[in-house]
Amino acid sequence: MHVLRTIREVNAWRAKLRAQQKKVGFVPTMGYLHDGHVSLIAEALSRADYVIVSIFVNPLQFGINEDFSVYPRDEARDLQMAQQAGANAVFLPSADEMYPAKPMTSIQVRSVSESLCGASRPGHFDGVAFVVVKLFNIVQPDFACFGMKDAQQVAVIEQLVNDLNIPVEIVRCPIIREKDGLAMSSRNVYLTNEERTQALILSSALREVQHILIEQRQGIPALDIRALAEDMISNQTDAVIDYVEVRHYPSLHPVFADYLIKYDTKDMILLALAVRFGRTRLIDNLLIGSDKGSEIDV
Ligand code: PAF
Repeated sequence: MHVLRTIREVNAWRAKLRAQQKKVGFVPTMGYLHDGHVSLIAEALSRADYVIVSIFVNPLQFGINEDFSVYPRDEARDLQMAQQAGANAVFLPSADEMYPAKPMTSIQVRSVSESLCGASRPGHFDGVAFVVVKLFNIVQPDFACFGMKDAQQVAVIEQLVNDLNIPVEIVRCPIIREKDGLAMSSRNVYLTNEERTQALILSSALREVQHILIEQRQGIPALDIRALAEDMISNQTDAVIDYVEVRHYPSLHPVFADYLIKYDTKDMILLALAVRFGRTRLIDNLLIGSDKGSEIDV
């Protein structure tokens, strides 16, 4: 596996593969890899001749009071995991390599980045959009894999790629969960034992909604779906709800309160949760409808 630390090295690696007409898949990450990332690498390997993973904790996507300085990092472990997962190269730039000077350009994907996490974390998706465009320009992959745990991030990146005609296919990959249902996230390491137990309410609430939708095929109003998830979280834990939202996907337009949500709806509907357990903010979601990106095994 090639360990590439500079943009020049990535450019040289990529140019060689282009000359050989190889298909390149890309898995952008912020490191502290887990099995969710391993599944993204596996998906990329199944579609490409070569797969490159980037590991870069992007300062632009963290707010001033957020966890940038304490975000978990373990380069040696990440390199070992990426290699075991079968990645052909890892791009591990320093902050100076990515941002040698303060960027004067901004990228804002309006509408889709303004609600949900965009409302609670102002500027977050501007930072994500900026680094993703930069990484796409450096790596020039044929496609890139993103996990649907960050369903809004995927919607933002799809919009960005469409708006700017960026020639990178975006591959949506399913949420990977621990055996007990907790969606995998690098931030799960922040949880105390008690918080981790409480955090299981996220997948339980989503699973319960899915069960009810399967049983009541005639559909359930959006308002009731939202209330069911919200009540489960607030009645069974002392966690602080940031949002429980039902939205059309991928537009993230609001859904009318009386809109009947059916398990096999042709529209895609996202039930998205963001909840704080102590100091740790976790997100999870269920995508209801034709593209079952986040269906929970029942
Ligand atoms: O999902 C992530 O890990 C990050 O937001 C990404 C896409 C690598 C951009 O920094």
